[in-house]
Amino acid sequence: MKTRLLAQACAPGKVILMGEHAVVYGQPALAVPVFGVWARARVWATDEPGGHVVVEAPDIALPPTRVEDLEQGHPLRVAVEQVVAHASPPPEGLHLQLTATVPMAAGLGSSAAVAVAVLRALAQALGLQVNPETLNAWAYEVEKIHHGTPSGVDNTTVVYQQPVYFRKGHPPRPLTLGGTFTLVIGDTGVPASTRETVARVRAGWQREPARYEGLFAAIGDLVEQAREALAQGDAPRLGALMDRNHALLQALGVSHPALERLVNAAREAGAWGAKLSGGGGGGNMIALVPPERAGHVQQALQEAGARRVWVTRLGEAHRARTPGVCPEP
Ligand code: PMV
Repeated sequence: MKTRLLAQACAPGKVILMGEHAVVYGQPALAVPVFGVWARARVWATDEPGGHVVVEAPDIALPPTRVEDLEQGHPLRVAVEQVVAHASPPPEGLHLQLTATVPMAAGLGSSAAVAVAVLRALAQALGLQVNPETLNAWAYEVEKIHHGTPSGVDNTTVVYQQPVYFRKGHPPRPLTLGGTFTLVIGDTGVPASTRETVARVRAGWQREPARYEGLFAAIGDLVEQAREALAQGDAPRLGALMDRNHALLQALGVSHPALERLVNAAREAGAWGAKLSGGGGGGNMIALVPPERAGHVQQALQEAGARRVWVTRLGEAHRARTPGVCPEP
């Protein structure tokens, strides 16, 4: 039985603004947290002796289960075991409950949000002081289970909870925003596996290395320009760069008819630019819109078949958020 609440932590979703897929091959990418969607982990002490950790995740139909009874390599097991390995075993049992509003497998970084929320809450419950670099390294281990060869952009954005310029193997750099940017995020509702699209791109690269490397470099170049546009507050320029990034993602073979419908609908409704976001093959798209067009674009996406739509503003929401702290209910 649960006796008392020891800790709680939240982690937001994220979207990749530009640079997905190419980032796996060493090119830079830009990503931002999305504060409208969260994963929340709560840890209670229980009166069960022996220091067992029980995990429960009603949103993914996981009933209360001892961590050692989850299969080897289960993301929650890997997350919990990494933290427990760094702490003295607790004398009492622990019960970890995970809930999430961030949709699964939709390009909003649900796996990273879940991992970071669990790692933070458990570390806190066990009295561990964990710096962001360590937390990020642990979250990366969990991401590997989901994605195979992840770049690390998702976990990095979710751990630091700020817009980041990310390059594999380099420390992340915060992005300078010279203005406020309004993003509309549309979920196609088509389930997408990042592991599969990453593998598809890898197969293409192995078949035609020169062509794929040309596409990756072209994406990297757009990312550098987008970073400038963000710093200058130049939304129309950023939108045009997003359109060009989308065309390169199409060339990589990771778009989907449902993504094309939403991207086109957003552009027709007055977006400055639109593109798929994340792994592709379904999942999400993003549109950069003039603030006064946000409602209109949102409606156009719904009419074009979007399952869900979120509006997020870059520049305002990202200030003064303490990583890990849960939003007001
Ligand atoms: O599908 P998402 O949102 O988790 O994003 C994946 C991004 C990729 O660049 C395709 C893969 C990666 O590990 O960076």
